Amino acid sequence: MKNTITLALCLFVSSLFGQDITITTPRTALIYKVGKNKRLYQSYFGLRKANGQYSDQRSEAFATGGMDFEFEPAIRAVHHDGNPSLELKYQQNKQFVLPDSTKRTDIYLFDEVYHTQVILHFLSYPGSDVLKTWTTISNPTQQDLLLTHFASAMLHFKSTNYWLTQFHGDWANEMQLQEHRLTSGIKTIDSKLIARADKYQAPHFFISVGEQAATEDKGEVMLGSLAYSGNFKLNFEIDNRNTLHGTFGINNYASSYTLHAQDSLVTPDFIFVYSGEGKGQASRALHHWARKYQVMDGQQPRLTLLNNWEATGMKFNEEKLAQLMKQASELGVDLFLLDDGWFGDKYPRDQDNSSLGDWVVDKKKLPNGISYLVKTAKKNKIKFGIWLEPEMISPKSQLFETHPDWVLQLPNRATHLQRNQLVLDLANPQVQDYLFSVVDDLFKENPNIAYIKWDCNRTVTNGYSPYLKDQQALMAISYVRGLYQVLQRLRAKYPNVPFMLCSGGGGRVDYEALKYFTEFWPSDNTDGLKRVYIQWGYSYFFPANTIAAHVTSWGKQSLKFRTDVAMSGKLGYDIDIAHFSNDEKTFSRNAVQNYKRLATLIEQGDLYRLLSPYEGNQAALMYVNEQKDKALLFVYYLDKQQAKQSNHLLLKGLDSHKNYEIREINRWLAEPTAWQSFSGTHLLSQGFALDKDQIGQLSSKVFEIRLAKTK
Ligand code: DGJ
Repeated sequence: MKNTITLALCLFVSSLFGQDITITTPRTALIYKVGKNKRLYQSYFGLRKANGQYSDQRSEAFATGGMDFEFEPAIRAVHHDGNPSLELKYQQNKQFVLPDSTKRTDIYLFDEVYHTQVILHFLSYPGSDVLKTWTTISNPTQQDLLLTHFASAMLHFKSTNYWLTQFHGDWANEMQLQEHRLTSGIKTIDSKLIARADKYQAPHFFISVGEQAATEDKGEVMLGSLAYSGNFKLNFEIDNRNTLHGTFGINNYASSYTLHAQDSLVTPDFIFVYSGEGKGQASRALHHWARKYQVMDGQQPRLTLLNNWEATGMKFNEEKLAQLMKQASELGVDLFLLDDGWFGDKYPRDQDNSSLGDWVVDKKKLPNGISYLVKTAKKNKIKFGIWLEPEMISPKSQLFETHPDWVLQLPNRATHLQRNQLVLDLANPQVQDYLFSVVDDLFKENPNIAYIKWDCNRTVTNGYSPYLKDQQALMAISYVRGLYQVLQRLRAKYPNVPFMLCSGGGGRVDYEALKYFTEFWPSDNTDGLKRVYIQWGYSYFFPANTIAAHVTSWGKQSLKFRTDVAMSGKLGYDIDIAHFSNDEKTFSRNAVQNYKRLATLIEQGDLYRLLSPYEGNQAALMYVNEQKDKALLFVYYLDKQQAKQSNHLLLKGLDSHKNYEIREINRWLAEPTAWQSFSGTHLLSQGFALDKDQIGQLSSKVFEIRLAKTK
């Protein structure tokens, strides 16, 4: 979690005992005030004002349970004598500038009677509207303290109406958008799945503040995302005075936390952006920040790849893989990724009912081992990557036979399998060591492995940690800590290998995991039409260089449609190209070349969502580079018969003072069209006319935009 040593390196700026604590970004202000009663109040949260005049509408900053706050508290503690209350009083605040120029504000609160200490931490970033906050709760006494509530963040909003935009889903249907007005009372979005934080419900959301929900470009809205890979809880509660209180953090369900004498709990980070210009601006701010400060190698180029899962499942041999590698090379991608099914000695992994845990090569399938595959890839001038599911164990495995006590499993109850597998007890340090050694040994034996896909195909149900014995309340939190511990060790030793975060599709996608992973697998559903919606959902929170998008044989749309959809994320393939016609091969090779030529624009550019697939019969989005001299436009025609369709697309993000040229690329067996010239003003205000005759259901178009050449 947080490294206290970094503080020592910081430049100390001030230690004020003042009354106002102001945290600002270029467009936002978050102001705290200390009341006469010495408690801390959030006085203002919203847009920054040039005149510095802010309304003062107070709500207790980190409201406690058991005293006078009548709603869901941010924190509730039960002391050794049974007193179930906290009264937090302001002590001091400190502001630091860290070596990377981020600014940290720590606000110290203290219970004068029971001595519990709470520090609210905030990080702001130069030029960015993103704020990160987390909380440290310390027990300096000699007795245990029981925490039943321990949020990362509490924020208050004052408006007439509030709208929640939430994202839900399931396997093959991730990140589906729902938006509704919040009514009085509490709305909770949570997860109790322990190992997966993005299945069913996502820890990412928007709160719009105003008469209407914010649109892409209009309205005040806060984007929030909890950086945590396990059980989470997001509470949105409208009180009797129509104030909205939000508490965001680890789910306290079955997880009351005992803070032992002299111990501290550091909560996960909550990341948020307040925008006065709709969701688009909030997303762009978050993407920028994520690439620069949070995502592993967020500003580095990504590898295009060919994965074998959809092509072969677990049925392959060396010859088949060699064929696929040759195809990958001919296609022009950078890497071949070997998926599930390569391992198991006593129990070869031919189906999903065995072998997880036995990470030794299946010699029957691959007699010459992984090193031979790495060499074959090299001969084909591509890199080699491999799939692992290290947190899991099959009951039919040698690992299970040796270590039945390493499994999360309830005593005296029937075993509950999902996909025929169980979850390892990551609370156990021995299991953590084992997990580390699985990956470490693989790299030691094959130092040229250039990519890892880290899967996680089930949730924890019927969970019980044999290691934690009578401390089961710690299981959910310890699991996630164990996972991070392993990932930290791996990243310390292997800092440069790209890792894909996968969880039976997008079952685990969050910003804490993305500190260790370069990208994620959004969904096993690669049907081009479904992906328009799924990738749209993720695009609100994650930049394109993290969203792996592969062309597969799912979906009835044309290869062009599926390719154009995949090209708006991080392009890959998961399909047997041997079945492609020559035309399909030519088209795909050309698409890969186009992607590589335009990868920086897609992966690092600013995203503008133009037309939502939820609102009409088209989806359209653009990437624009920082200089606003290059852009790429994707348009997808969907399958709704009656819905409105526009032939005039208002572009966004371009410079109205510049002139541009546009051509269509990625055309089916055709050269790009000739460049057409437009002024920036025209494209932004009149729009760009799409050729009506060429538009059909489930068709798509990609347009390249560049600055017009001056004559
Ligand atoms: C689920 C993943 O989402 C798929 O891409 C594939 O890796 C399978 N697991 C393999 O078991």
